Amino acid sequence: MSATIYLNGEFMPQDQAMISVMDRGFLFSDSIYEVIPVYRGHLFRGYEHIQRLEHSLAAIHLTLDYNWHKWHTIFQQIIEKNGSGDRLLYIHVTRGASPVRQHILPQKYTPTVFIATTPYIYPTPDDLAHGIKAITVDDTRWARCHIKSTMLLPNNLALTDATHQGVDDAIFIRDGFAMEGTSSNLFIVKNGGIFTPPLSPNILGGITRDLTIELAEQENIPFEKTDISKDQLADADEIWLTSSSKEIRPVLELDGKPVGQGKVGEIWKRLIQAYQVTKQNIADHQPKENILQFPCEFPIKVMGLSNNQFEIAVLSIVKKHFPKLAENALKTRSSKQGKYLALTVTVTANSKAQLDAVYHDLTDCELVVMAL
Ligand code: PDD
Repeated sequence: MSATIYLNGEFMPQDQAMISVMDRGFLFSDSIYEVIPVYRGHLFRGYEHIQRLEHSLAAIHLTLDYNWHKWHTIFQQIIEKNGSGDRLLYIHVTRGASPVRQHILPQKYTPTVFIATTPYIYPTPDDLAHGIKAITVDDTRWARCHIKSTMLLPNNLALTDATHQGVDDAIFIRDGFAMEGTSSNLFIVKNGGIFTPPLSPNILGGITRDLTIELAEQENIPFEKTDISKDQLADADEIWLTSSSKEIRPVLELDGKPVGQGKVGEIWKRLIQAYQVTKQNIADHQPKENILQFPCEFPIKVMGLSNNQFEIAVLSIVKKHFPKLAENALKTRSSKQGKYLALTVTVTANSKAQLDAVYHDLTDCELVVMAL
């Protein structure tokens, strides 16, 4: 029997679902996506995935009038209709179909929203302990990998090349630094400390990456977000790739050589235990929209290239929406190589609409690479 999918407001059998050949997702990859793990029928970090989806939408200037409540209702329905249990949810939003093929983004459009779910057998800690082999490859992707775009051909080609070389995955190297896997984030362990590349437009801000960082802090393991050179990667005691479906997967061989001792490390063993406990304990997240009580202090995080223009532009946008900024509202942090600047502006927000408006203007600003 065909699985039930959701397409533009309706549930239907997957083999009866149709979209136009003029859909911009099909023609231009003018679309973004999300993958959410579902354990025993419960979304795992569903709200965080939807927040990332909203950031991806904003980054490609695609407006969609779905709020968390609506997403959540559809997710519950589609999970139930397909038999619940352990699953992966796939969400895909395109800028819809245009009457003619035109490159320029149309001002008017009706987005296509497609949601599907497939049963998924998550790896057990024993499965994960077998580890994987990886190679390093040049990062041939675009300069906006923080957007979860469906434009995945460079990732797919790199993965396929890796499998043709008899290994399981590839790790992208850009300008001499390790970025992430073809569909996962990267962590290394060296001398008892955990390291992962900082957020930048060159990697996706993984939800599993955030959880791994939380668990490292919870376990009191020294941890740092820092650039990892190709040499540091080759010299690591442990390498892990993290994602919603891979969880925390140890890489035991890199470019044909054993990683560390060539077997899973002690730090991985601690974190995978903590990860399993978190999984066991999940209850579906309550919508945080209802938890945010206005007025409230809200940190707006914005990243851009390190120059004066960027800071001035961000402050003027934020002040347009929040004229009364406290004196210490702005905190700045520079990336290690000084190329990017991360600004945190803490505002007193009075409504969700006010926050939505400032995020809309920030993501429209050309100097802003990322607003979280
Ligand atoms: N991929 N980096 C890339 C390039 C990814 O495609 C993914 C996830 C991640 C990890 O993100 P998360 O922890 O939120 O799953 C990092 C999904 C699973 C996919 O494409 O199927």
